[in-house]
Amino acid sequence: MPNSSRPRTPLRPKIGVFDSGVGGLTVLRALVERIPDADYLYFGDTARLPYGSKSAATVAHYAVGAVRYLQDEGAELLVIACNTATALALKEIKAAAGVEVIGVVEPGAAAAAAASRTGKVVVIGTEATMASHAYRRALEGLKVEVREKACPLFVPLVEEGWVEHAVTEQVARIYLAEAFSDDARDADVLVLGCTHYPLIKPLLRRVAPEHMAIVDSAESTARAVARQLQIEALRPSAEAKSERRGVPVLKFFATDSAEKFRKMGTRFLGLPVEEVLHVDLKE
Ligand code: DGL
Repeated sequence: MPNSSRPRTPLRPKIGVFDSGVGGLTVLRALVERIPDADYLYFGDTARLPYGSKSAATVAHYAVGAVRYLQDEGAELLVIACNTATALALKEIKAAAGVEVIGVVEPGAAAAAAASRTGKVVVIGTEATMASHAYRRALEGLKVEVREKACPLFVPLVEEGWVEHAVTEQVARIYLAEAFSDDARDADVLVLGCTHYPLIKPLLRRVAPEHMAIVDSAESTARAVARQLQIEALRPSAEAKSERRGVPVLKFFATDSAEKFRKMGTRFLGLPVEEVLHVDLKE
């Protein structure tokens, strides 16, 4: 006989995370830190990246195929970790999905608006994300002025592993000097609007004007997912290690070599990437 007075064990959510490649593992990393008690299915479309230089129609086509795959695998909530896919195709993804979808742009924009005192922020991302003006729309909706700056060299530099490298630092100096010029001089927030940029956050911290707050869309998105699931997000800090944490179960799907994904993924996730399945999505 069911015992109605027994407290119900909270169900473990099954969260699908989609990205064009390994970059979205920075979002998965933030999710796992805040919501460890969950099953994660991560899809990296490594055979077709980069998305950042592709058209909206192509990105939407690829992304819809991938999220359908995640849903067929049992994902009950979808996180679009890729800034480019969120910026260019969130509407199409939502229309095709039968479950709740959370992208990275809105949480990032909301966190930036909350952090800014001057009401001016700078967003950096891929060419496609910047050209879509998705961040601009989201931030202007929150009454914040925006300077968008495409930084296309950062993705290949990070993938090369040059996260602390003189060349990356020089490139960052040039990009940020352009970004914070003229009427964006008094901007006080820098939004990392690309999956790869959290890996160069320490370098950007050094190069960006000192008073600048850096908002990482990965962190803000993890908090938005916790809110959606009505779960109290854990703090990712060192002292939080003592909090009672569940153990996440991680499963990965990649459209290019599983071995390559495993190697590169470990660097982005900061945890061993073990179970990787190669997926061939038919065009
Ligand atoms: N994941 C992409 C983003 O966040 C960067 C890599 C790519 O261009 O595919 O915009």
